[in-house]
Formats: sequence, C-alpha cells, structure tokens
Amino acid sequence: MAILPIVEVPDPRLKTVSTPVDAVTDETRKLIADMFETMYDAPGIGLAAIQVGVPKRILVIDLQEEEDEEGNPIKDPRVFINPELIDPSEELRTYEEGCLSVPDQFADIERPDSVTARWLDENGEQHEERLDGLLATCLQHEMDHLEGIVFIDHLSRMKRNMVLKKLEKARRLKAA
Ligand code: NI
Repeated sequence: MAILPIVEVPDPRLKTVSTPVDAVTDETRKLIADMFETMYDAPGIGLAAIQVGVPKRILVIDLQEEEDEEGNPIKDPRVFINPELIDPSEELRTYEEGCLSVPDQFADIERPDSVTARWLDENGEQHEERLDGLLATCLQHEMDHLEGIVFIDHLSRMKRNMVLKKLEKARRLKAA
C-alpha cells in the first residue's frame, strides 16, 4: 500500500468527469487500498479516485463515527464503485463540509437528507441501500467529484472566492 499525493484546488484535474470502471480487478483493489491509506493518513472521511489523479468512478468512505473503549475510532471502510443515486429526498440537510482537495476550509452545504444508492463493491458485487445522515451527505459530496464538482462550487461566486483567498493565504503562511 502507498500514500498517494492528493490533488488540490485549483488543479484542473479536479474538473474531470470520471469514467466508469468496466471490470473490478486486482488493479482496482490495489488503488482502493492506496486510497484508504491516503484518506486515513490525511486524515479524512471520504476520497474520490480523481483526488489522487485517477479519473475512475471509485470512492472510499469511512465516517469512523464509533469509538472503542480507549476513544480510538473504529474503522468502518466502505467502497463505492460506479455509484448511482436514485430518489433523493425532498427534505434537505445542511452540513459543514470540508474536502481534502480544499485543505482546512469549511462551508455549509445543503443536500438531500436521504438517497437510495446503487454501487459495486471491491468484489464487483452490486448493492442498493437507502442512506441518510452523514453517510448520505458524504456520498453525495464524493459523487460530485466524479462529475468534476468540488463542494465550494455549490457556493456563490463571492463565497467561493473568499474560501480560495483564505486557502491561498494559508498556503503562503505555510511556505513562509
Ligand atoms: Ni471532497
């Protein structure tokens, strides 16, 4: 396994529309293992393949909501290959989102509260499940990446520019 470099805004690769996975192979599983390692190291709760420069419709998510007796997060890795969303709820939910490609920046984003998702797992098995709460939010955020959309693209131009300016400033401070 390997920790891969994460692509950050404004890298044009993040605007790529990712292509479906034709067959889930050992190569796919190796990429997935590397994506998990990269995501846990960052740390983050979700990562799309394009965020490590691979334009394939593959996502990994681990909300790590549960903790063990010592307060360490319990891993709950989930893989979504070629995911599709069906029947998003009319009810919306606002969550303060962040993204490993927009480091340390957060903004409130409104999305359907629940969705039915259909996807393949790392063994090529098909799944369909109604998801809600943070998992639904996170899946929709990650699926946006497959269409070349980053969460700040949902903000007004003024708010988006503010986030990008803050990010630029943080990078300058880091480099200084
Ligand atoms: Ni993201």
